[in-house]
Amino acid sequence: MQLDVVTLFPDWFAWFAGQRHVANAVAQGHELRALNPREHTPLSGGQVDDTPFGGGAGMVLRVDVMDAALRSFYGADPVELRHERRVLALTPGGRILDDAFVEELAAEPAITLLCGRYEGFDERIVQHFASDAVSIGRYVLSGGELAAMVVLDAVIRKLPGALGHADSAREESFSAALGGDPEYPHYTRPAAYRGWRVPEVLLSGHHEEIRQWRRARSRERGAAGTTSPLP
Ligand code: 6GU
Repeated sequence: MQLDVVTLFPDWFAWFAGQRHVANAVAQGHELRALNPREHTPLSGGQVDDTPFGGGAGMVLRVDVMDAALRSFYGADPVELRHERRVLALTPGGRILDDAFVEELAAEPAITLLCGRYEGFDERIVQHFASDAVSIGRYVLSGGELAAMVVLDAVIRKLPGALGHADSAREESFSAALGGDPEYPHYTRPAAYRGWRVPEVLLSGHHEEIRQWRRARSRERGAAGTTSPLP
């Protein structure tokens, strides 16, 4: 899979690319690129953003700059590009990321994530260059970069070979394997700590009983709507 991020802060993604599961994915032949529109801006002085029409605080990424950047990266009109690959504009009001959306993206041969900065994008970028608008929740971050890393992390862990153990991404929270429920609780040594005992069934070695117990705990958590500590 080819994963491209269009960002004014490509350096942030160097750290991300060094994370083990990301490095594993790249070693398996997947590709992660951080592309900087500032390097392709047609404006003088490396200008990429501007003040919003109508007034207001902050700066907005310009549509002509994004147009030139995408043309230069892909050699195509970005209006056409979005029909050739998923182009995701990261914006707080977009479609909220969930496991189903992540699965959808992980099945694509290539995606491009567009990061806004400051007050975000000129709306024409979202309307004409993006195939999707994506949000990671209803709160506001200072830019799309952290949200892009969240999307990338969630997608990359679905790619074959990214995780050490082949099954570790399959039966996890919200996956189809768990019927969309959160994951069951995990325990490790010590089997008893401060009087808190690990559920006996997990120590029993009865794989079918363990499977049933886990499925039941997972359903319980799903029905409760959230996982929470003891009061
Ligand atoms: Cl995708 N971008 C920004 N700037 N803030 C967010 C977000 C995205 N998702 C949630 N908050």
